Amino acid sequence: MTSNEARKPIRKAVFPVAGLGTRFLPATKAIPKEMLPIIDRPLIQYAVDEAREAGIEQLIFVTGRGKTAIVEHFDTAYELERTMADRGKNLDVLDATRLLPGNLVTVRQQVPMGLGHAIWCARAVVGNEPFAIFLPDEMMVGSPGCMKQMVDAYNEVGGNLISVLEVPQEEVSSYGVIAPGQRVSDALTEVTGLVEKPRREDAPSNLIISGRYILQPEVMRTLESQEKGAGGEIQLTDAMARMIGQQPFHAVKFDGRRFDCGSKTGFVEATLSLALERPDMAEEVRAIMTRLLAEGA
Ligand code: UTP
Repeated sequence: MTSNEARKPIRKAVFPVAGLGTRFLPATKAIPKEMLPIIDRPLIQYAVDEAREAGIEQLIFVTGRGKTAIVEHFDTAYELERTMADRGKNLDVLDATRLLPGNLVTVRQQVPMGLGHAIWCARAVVGNEPFAIFLPDEMMVGSPGCMKQMVDAYNEVGGNLISVLEVPQEEVSSYGVIAPGQRVSDALTEVTGLVEKPRREDAPSNLIISGRYILQPEVMRTLESQEKGAGGEIQLTDAMARMIGQQPFHAVKFDGRRFDCGSKTGFVEATLSLALERPDMAEEVRAIMTRLLAEGA
């Protein structure tokens, strides 16, 4: 890879949203997990906002059965807007859902065969350029946002990047963990290996992979020949691990907070945390929480 190719701008992002969301059943029987709201915005909206802040132009949603509400969310709702306008209501609240025509592309993952397989389904749209990946159920709250931090790092080192977070050593066995190599700066470290859900004593670090990636298009070829891994699914971590050594690979330590909204407690934590930061709600929510805690004590 020439250094020129390594710095192709990150214009496209893949959002795999074809998972079954079984941990949230029955809520996710008819509603996609990605449409569950944290206060008044669905999870997918937070991820899309983060992508746009990072300069991403084209959003590629890998969808599946029952996921049409996600695409509808970013469409014009003519009747709603017309009725609101007739009633003198402010339409600014819908601004974040407006995309430039043609900037949203969907591809279908007919069978949810794993995250790696979902990414591979987007290969024709991604083409021959580096691209970002967002797992919308991992909510990254930071200023600037996580992907903007990653794009800044990419402009420095190129190649492949994954966002990581430090966790207590006793928690590593629930996550993908990186083996760190040379440190480039406080936030940027070379990656020499990736291990999925290691035993605590075998973990090469306490830096876990969180749901944001910048990958070179060659990952698609690696995924193409990828055997099924853990859980009988085609794993993205395995494909990335195979690319280490062939291409530059770095981890960016995210300066911000991550909420695992794919789990129920993480979802509640994100809701409470964001509510406590919103000027229009913070005082009332704090009072409610204080009362509930006192009642429970
Ligand atoms: P998860 O591991 O959270 O799976 O996927 P899930 O199906 O969404 O949820 P649970 O575990 O059954 O509750 C991580 C991300 O990868 C997507 C999911 O939509 C989610 O954004 N995904 C996963 C796919 O698009 N396809 C797959 O085959 C698997």
